[in-house]
Amino acid sequence: MFHLCFALLLLASLSFSFPLASLGNNQMRDVPDFVRQYAPVAYLCSTEIYFPSDIGAQIAHTHPEDDFGNAITPPTALTLSNLDGLNAFADGGINVYLTSNEGIQALPSWFRGSRPQADGSTPSIVGCAVVTVAKPNDTLDAFYFYFYAYNQGNWVLGTPTLEFGDHVGDWEHTMVRFVDGAPTAVYYSQHSSGEAFTYAATQKGPDGVRPVVYVANGTHANYAIPGPHDHTLPDLNTVAGPLTDHTDQGPTWDPIVDAYVYSFDNTTGVFEAYNGVDPVGWLNFAGRWGDNQLPDSTPGQIDVFGERKYVAGPTGPRDKDLGRTGVCPNGKSCDVRDVLVP
Ligand SMILES: *[C@@H]1O[C@H](CO)[C@@H](O)[C@H](O)[C@H]1NC(C)=O
Ligand SMILES: *[C@@H]1O[C@H](CO)[C@@H](O)[C@H](O)[C@H]1NC(C)=O
Ligand SMILES: *[C@@H]1O[C@H](CO)[C@@H](O)[C@H](O)[C@H]1NC(C)=O
Repeated sequence: MFHLCFALLLLASLSFSFPLASLGNNQMRDVPDFVRQYAPVAYLCSTEIYFPSDIGAQIAHTHPEDDFGNAITPPTALTLSNLDGLNAFADGGINVYLTSNEGIQALPSWFRGSRPQADGSTPSIVGCAVVTVAKPNDTLDAFYFYFYAYNQGNWVLGTPTLEFGDHVGDWEHTMVRFVDGAPTAVYYSQHSSGEAFTYAATQKGPDGVRPVVYVANGTHANYAIPGPHDHTLPDLNTVAGPLTDHTDQGPTWDPIVDAYVYSFDNTTGVFEAYNGVDPVGWLNFAGRWGDNQLPDSTPGQIDVFGERKYVAGPTGPRDKDLGRTGVCPNGKSCDVRDVLVP
């Protein structure tokens, strides 16, 4: 009894001496149940070799460089918690590139990530980050971000010597919009654009509830239906064309089983971990998650109709218009369709 009272006293004095804000408002919360209940379930392509990858391992396998290729020496070893310290370099971090130690052309084995287990989990990696954003009109957008160490581009007209858009680091996402806790629409990111469908129209996984996402071979673009998808013209996918993504019902990936989970406040721009433990700093990093585009003078770099074989790695989740008002990123032309189309 004495010990209990003592503990309570200690707790009371602790909360007195630390302002509530510094404890973080999220420590006692969990993400709303519906964010897990309606989380998309992914089917990777049956011939995929570049699997979901550990977000933190990208830091271990790379070193930061600026846009001139000069090494940046951070004051302390980089982790997911302090990665945003790189924003002190190269134009607020915008021109920082997490550059693979071996170089993109070496295709080191860590580019291949981790093939999910039969139950869809990836226990050795965290390859997904969920970010919820509360919006007006009782709306909550749940972004499910998927990370891959490497993106293999498509072959132009099926020609292996005309491969286009290889890059180190690959961030893709789906977003489910909830109104009053009910899913209403799903957005699928595809290259520089994407597609959106009503929740009712989406194909559902084995439980009849979770929307299915088909992940394209190599590029990891997200589609609502399987089969080939030409993406020469954004938001105008047809079944065949000069640049074609391939999807089918290969290995299942259940991204939220091994995921970090955050909220984002669109007014303050602050990310917080729901559990108070998941690392936050990396979400504020303004730079790129892979190598810069190789100069045209590099042997092997080729120019495919003005596009390059080896291009720069992408920026992270904070650049994916988390504050969008519509289901599609602001300024992108895409309608929420109520029938599934390629
Ligand atoms: C998927 O990518 C792998 C690795 O490049 C390749 O071997 C395979 O043929 C591709 N599959 C399809 C359907 O294009
Ligand atoms: C909220 O709903 C109102 C009325 O339908 C609409 O005019 C407004 O744009 C909505 N706000 C957002 C942020 O979607
Ligand atoms: C989120 O914040 C941005 C920038 O302040 C703003 O333009 C946008 O309208 C906000 N989104 C919503 C849904 O209120």
